Amino acid sequence: MSDPILNEQIEYYRARAKEYDQSISSAVELFEAGKGMLLNLGNFDQILELACGTGFWTETLTKMGGEVTAVDAAPEMLQIARERLGEKGITYQQADLFKWEPEREYDLVFFANWLSHVPPSALETFLSRVQRAVRPDGYLAIVDQYAPSVADEIIAKDDFYAKRPLEDGREFTIVKAFYNLNLLEGKLNNLGFEVSTTKFTETFFFLSGKRVG
Ligand SMILES: C[S@@+](CC[C@H](N)C(=O)[O-])C[C@H]1O[C@@H](n2cnc3c(N)ncnc32)[C@H](O)[C@@H]1O
Repeated sequence: MSDPILNEQIEYYRARAKEYDQSISSAVELFEAGKGMLLNLGNFDQILELACGTGFWTETLTKMGGEVTAVDAAPEMLQIARERLGEKGITYQQADLFKWEPEREYDLVFFANWLSHVPPSALETFLSRVQRAVRPDGYLAIVDQYAPSVADEIIAKDDFYAKRPLEDGREFTIVKAFYNLNLLEGKLNNLGFEVSTTKFTETFFFLSGKRVG
C-alpha cells in the first residue's frame, strides 16, 4: 500500500534509531515479563522477527535455539542491532513490511511493538503474509499494546495516527492503532491459528498462536 504516512513512519524510525534505546529504557523492566513468556514457548530452529529495531527482542530470540532472521525497514536500526548482537546466528534483512512477502516458512514468527504500527486497512494483508511465513504446526508470537498509555492518550488524535517528536524537535506522524484483542484473535483463528493471549502491565499483551490450519 502507498499511504504517505507509512513512508513518514519509516523516516521517523530511521531518524529515531540513535535515540531509540535510551527512549525505551524506562520500559525495559516492564518488558521482562514479555521476554519470559517468549522464552517459555521453547526452542525453534528457524525464527523470523519482523520490525526488529535495535535488537531488543532479537537478543532473547537468539537464546531460543536456532537461526534468527531479523527484518526492519530502517538501515540505521539494523546497524545498531548488528553492532549489539553481531552476525552469528542472525541474518539481517532490510525490507518494507507493507511490500514484503515471506521467502520461506519459519518455525516461529515474532514481532514486538510493530502491530500497532500497521493501519487497519493493511491488517488483513499483513496477517495473511504472516500466516504464510509460519510453517504448519509452527508458532506466531506478538507483543504490543492493547490500550494507550497515559503518554499516548495525551498526544492521541481521534484516529489511528499519532504525532511523535524527536529530541531535535522534528515531529512525525505515524500509525498507532490499538487493536481489540477479541478482533485480533478472531482474525488469527480464521487464518488457522489456535491463539492464547495474556495481558501484562496495564497496556501490553503477549499473544502466542500455533498454526493448526
Ligand atoms: C516501535 S519500533 C519496535 C522495534 C522493536 N521490535 C522493539 O520492540 O524494540 C518499530 C520498528 O518498525 C520499523 N518499521 C517502521 N516501518 C516499517 C516498515 N514499513 N517495514 C518494516 N519495518 C518498519 C522501525 O524501523 C522500527 O524499528
